[in-house]
Amino acid sequence: MRLLAVSVFLATLLASALGTVDTFIVSEAPIAKANLLANIGPSGSKSQGAKAGVVIASPSTTNPNYLYTWTRDSSLVFKLLIDQYTNGVDTSLRGQIDNFVAAEAVLQQVSNPSGSVSSGGLGEPKFNIDETAFTGAWGRPQRDGPALRSTALITYANWLIKNGNTSYAQNTIWPIIKLDLDYVAGNWNQSTFDLWEEVSSSSFFTTAVQHASLRAGSALATTLGQTSVVSNYNTQAANLLCFLQSYWNPGGGYITANTGGGRSGKDANTVLTSIHTFDASAGCDVTTFQPCSDKALANLLVYVNSFRSVYSINSGLGTNVAAATGRYPEDSYQGGNPWYLTTLAVAEQLYDALIVWNKQGNLTVTATSQPFFSLFQSGIATGTFTSTSTTFTSLTSAIKTYADGFVNVVAQYTPSNGGLAEQYSRSTGAPLSAVDLTWSYASALSAFAARDGFVPASWGAAGLTLPSSCQSNSGGGGGGSSGATVAVTFNVQATTVFGENIYITGSVSALQNWSPDNSIILSAANYPTWSATINLPASTTIQYKYIRKFNGAVTWESDPNMQITTPASGTFTESDTWR
Ligand SMILES: *[C@@H]1O[C@H](CO)[C@@H](O)[C@H](O)[C@H]1NC(C)=O
Ligand SMILES: *[C@@H]1O[C@H](CO)[C@@H](O)[C@H](O)[C@H]1NC(C)=O
Ligand SMILES: *[C@@H]1O[C@H](CO)[C@@H](O)[C@H](O)[C@H]1NC(C)=O
Repeated sequence: MRLLAVSVFLATLLASALGTVDTFIVSEAPIAKANLLANIGPSGSKSQGAKAGVVIASPSTTNPNYLYTWTRDSSLVFKLLIDQYTNGVDTSLRGQIDNFVAAEAVLQQVSNPSGSVSSGGLGEPKFNIDETAFTGAWGRPQRDGPALRSTALITYANWLIKNGNTSYAQNTIWPIIKLDLDYVAGNWNQSTFDLWEEVSSSSFFTTAVQHASLRAGSALATTLGQTSVVSNYNTQAANLLCFLQSYWNPGGGYITANTGGGRSGKDANTVLTSIHTFDASAGCDVTTFQPCSDKALANLLVYVNSFRSVYSINSGLGTNVAAATGRYPEDSYQGGNPWYLTTLAVAEQLYDALIVWNKQGNLTVTATSQPFFSLFQSGIATGTFTSTSTTFTSLTSAIKTYADGFVNVVAQYTPSNGGLAEQYSRSTGAPLSAVDLTWSYASALSAFAARDGFVPASWGAAGLTLPSSCQSNSGGGGGGSSGATVAVTFNVQATTVFGENIYITGSVSALQNWSPDNSIILSAANYPTWSATINLPASTTIQYKYIRKFNGAVTWESDPNMQITTPASGTFTESDTWR
């Protein structure tokens, strides 16, 4: 009698365990989608005051106050929505996406503590939700924002071109993308705050997303006939790919997240990189750290294990069983707890890996990835196992179960209303920190999509070759170049119509050698005065002109060329009126 009761109990437990992930996804997916949309202006129910297309990070206004819009979070959220729209998953999103395009075009032009649009302002991490600058102290600049924003917009532009709307891609979206990619190409080799806004150094996530954005941008530029940028984007992409390799820590068998920081370097930064630069066409390519590459898998294992003894909710779990994971083991922010989006990222990396293994019909174990695969088959040998082998079948099945386990951890610690905060307690699993974090919802939806086999559009990761030596980019487009230069501020009075912008180009490379395509945009922060501060060679006579661009049309100032002679040192201000 007693035995029977126990076995019925076990059977029920087993049945519910088997069904947990599917059951959770069925209930959570619509909640995540609705709560994500509630955080987007102008009509989201939890984002009152946000302008159209502006994504709030969370409705939380105290401890922490996240009622701001971050370029990183917004771009990752809209990349998800653009993927859904362009793949026909949700055809109702077009208006939201067009609002996002318009909002980002405005935010690019908002002068802020990082600078104006032409002097580094694109690296500003966050803005007020009414599209004004946030002027308080902050970890700035954060140079992943322009890369992530352009990647989202490139995905949309490619779809528009494929669907016969090249003019919108060319005239409205390309100018936004180009500003971001010029910023990436010009500034990637300067230090940046990391995605957690804490460490100023070089950051794996930032380097990787910058690389991907320039590859995708170069291909789009070619499609649109914007050929003048292509060789620079390709050159800087090759430099970024080379630099990316340096984050690998061969002794530790993991990717060091940041070059600074005084920590172990084990960090969700690296897992997020793998999922946000997933390109199935590249297979398990290791130079781009694809989700199924040996280095990314070795890294995943080290990252997950770094939380096993740190969070008490993980105690007693076997080493091949999913666990709660957070940003990095040394984290103390809001108590230093596991995050929903980092735990879900582990699941997503593994789902992405399974997509590729199943597609290519084999899976390779190397000395680097052996510790990861040993979780599922102790003593496994190195080698390639084809899909007809029992090793392939048992490994992929065990890895699927392991991946589902991370979704189950999230399911276990999600409250019954389905709300996803930023964190959940390391000791009780209760939700903590900002409620309704938009990025948490996006991470759930993208993990669920990967589990269903969703493959995002390629960004061009296949078939890349590594340069033989790494080049820096000291000639940076955003200033900071060495040698005898002076900062010249150009002010020009010019009245414009909405959507029209003023640019400058001239006789030296810092003014883009008379190229209208590559001319430098001026800031309208003090409209009708447009201005830009540009480092120019000292003691040099330089000719230049302003140009207007509107809907793809270029209008030059009338002749003759303008001319200045720069001083030997210091700064210089030139004040003009449009002619
Ligand atoms: C192109 O896309 C834009 C943005 O959605 C839209 O406003 C416009 O009507 C489209 N044009 C055509 C010809 O479909
Ligand atoms: C700049 O690039 C060089 C070459 O890859 C690299 O050694 C250096 O660390 C980079 N610095 C920054 C801040 O990105
Ligand atoms: C694994 O699959 C890839 C893609 O189908 C193929 O190119 C490669 O030759 C396969 N490797 C082995 C050892 O079967």
